[in-house]
Amino acid sequence: MELLAKTLFLCLALTLTNAAPAQTHDAAPEEEVDPNLPDRCEGLEFDAITPDEKGITFFFKGSYLWKGFHGPAQPSNESFKELDDLHNIGHVDAAFRMHDPDNTDDHDHIYFFLDDKVFSYYNHTLEDGYPKEIQEDFPDVPSHLDAAVECPKGECAANSVLFFKGHDVHVYDITTKTVKTKSWHHLPVCTSAFRWLEHYYCFHGHNFTRFHPLTGEVSGSYPKDIRNYFMRCPNFGHGGDYQVVKCSEVKLDAITSDDTGKTYFFAGPIFMRLDTSRDGLHAFPITRTWKELTDGVDAVFSYTDKMYMIKDDQVFIYKGAAHYTLIEGYPKSLKEELGLEGHVDAAFVCPNEHTVHIIQGQKMLDVDLTATPRAVTGDQSIPMSDIDAGFCGPQGIAVFKGSQYYKYGSTMMLANSKMAPRPHIITSEMMGCRD
Ligand SMILES: *[C@@H]1O[C@H](CO)[C@@H](O)[C@H](O)[C@H]1NC(C)=O
Ligand SMILES: *[C@@H]1O[C@H](CO)[C@@H](O)[C@H](O)[C@H]1NC(C)=O
Ligand SMILES: *[C@@H]1O[C@H](CO)[C@@H](O)[C@H](O)[C@H]1NC(C)=O
Repeated sequence: MELLAKTLFLCLALTLTNAAPAQTHDAAPEEEVDPNLPDRCEGLEFDAITPDEKGITFFFKGSYLWKGFHGPAQPSNESFKELDDLHNIGHVDAAFRMHDPDNTDDHDHIYFFLDDKVFSYYNHTLEDGYPKEIQEDFPDVPSHLDAAVECPKGECAANSVLFFKGHDVHVYDITTKTVKTKSWHHLPVCTSAFRWLEHYYCFHGHNFTRFHPLTGEVSGSYPKDIRNYFMRCPNFGHGGDYQVVKCSEVKLDAITSDDTGKTYFFAGPIFMRLDTSRDGLHAFPITRTWKELTDGVDAVFSYTDKMYMIKDDQVFIYKGAAHYTLIEGYPKSLKEELGLEGHVDAAFVCPNEHTVHIIQGQKMLDVDLTATPRAVTGDQSIPMSDIDAGFCGPQGIAVFKGSQYYKYGSTMMLANSKMAPRPHIITSEMMGCRD
C-alpha cells in the first residue's frame, strides 16, 4: 500500500513537471495567489510566448507574465525591467529566443518587440545598445508585429525567425539578414507563436493551431484549447493537484538513448525526454507515445532503430521514426524474444555493440542480439542488487538505484568490481525534479 501510494505520488508529481531547474521553485501547489492578478485559466489571449536560455517558457499578457506551465502571474517588469521603464507601454507585441549557434553573441538571447523597438536580453539582463529600431537589427522586418518564433536550420531552410503580422509571415534568414514574405491565409492571425519540442504553434484567443514552419500547413484537428496543453488549469487537461517530485524521491524504471540521440527515462506511467532540455524538461504519459504500454515498463533498451520495452514477462518492440509503432506480432514472451525468464530490473546496449546486458537481481546476463534464436551467452554477478535502470553511453555505464546512480567505465568494470563506487545523486538539472 505504501509503495503504491508512493509510486502514484511520483507519477502524478512528474506528470506536470514543467521543470527546468529554476521553474521547480514556483511549483508549490498551496501557493497563495493574489486575486487581483490575472488568471490564465480564464482563457487569455497571450501577447507573446518565448523560452529563455534555460528552457523556461514565458507567457506574456499586458504588463504580466507567467513563468513555466504553472504558477501565478507576476508583473513582467520584475523579470525584464526595462520593457516597462523605457516605454511604459504595458505589453509586448512579440518575442522569440534566437537560435544562432554560430554566433555566441546572439545565441539564446531573448528578443522582445514593442511597437517599432527591439530589446535583446540575456540572463534576464538588457544587452548594451538596446532598445534599437527593429530595422537596425532586422532589416525589412515590419514594426508593430503580432508574433515571432525561432526556426532552426533543419526545420527551416536556414537558421531563421518567422515574424507574423496579420496573415503575412516574414521569414528572416539570420545569416544573410534577408526576408522572404509569405501569406498564410488559412492560418488564424497569431497573437503569439512558439516552437516547442520541435513543433510550431500559432496562438490565437485561448486556442492554438499547430503549423508546419515551411509551408504553414495545418494537419490534425485544430484549433485546440491552450489550457489543455500549455498550462495547468482545474477542469482542463491534466487538472488535479500535482506537485513536482523531490529529487531524493525519484525512482526510475528505465532509461535509454536511441540512435538519433533522443534520451528517455521512464517512471511509473510517465516518461520524460532529456535531450530536449533547451525547451525545459517535461513529463508525458507513456501511453501518449507507446499506446500499448498501459502499465509502465520494467526495462527499456534501444538497438538499431528499435526500442525494446520489457514489462513483466513480455517484450514490446517499437520501430521509431517520427512516431513509435509496435511491430506486428508483439508483444512476445521474454523467453521467446531474448531466451530468458524472470523479472528484468534493467537492460542496456552500449554504443556500436550488439549485446544487450540484462540485469536481474545481482546478475548481469548477456544476450547476443545478432543470434537467432537469441540465448544467454554470458552470466556474471555484479556488486549490487535492486537496480532500477541502467544506461550505457560513450562515457560508460550509469546504473540507477533510487535517487542515486553509479558510474562504471565498462561492463567489465561493473562485473569485476568488488564493491559499488561512490554514488552520485540525481539533480534537478538532470531530471527536472525538485532539489
Ligand atoms: C513594476 O511596475 C509597477 C506598476 O507599473 C510598479 O509599481 C513597480 O514598481 C514596478 N516594479 C519594478 C521592479 O520596476
Ligand atoms: C546572470 O545574472 C546574475 C544576476 O542577475 C549573475 O549573478 C550571474 O553571474 C549572471 N550569469 C551569467 C552567466 O552572466
Ligand atoms: C477555440 O476553438 C474551438 C474549437 O476547438 C472553437 O469552437 C472556438 O470558437 C475557438 N475559440 C476562440 C476564441 O478562438
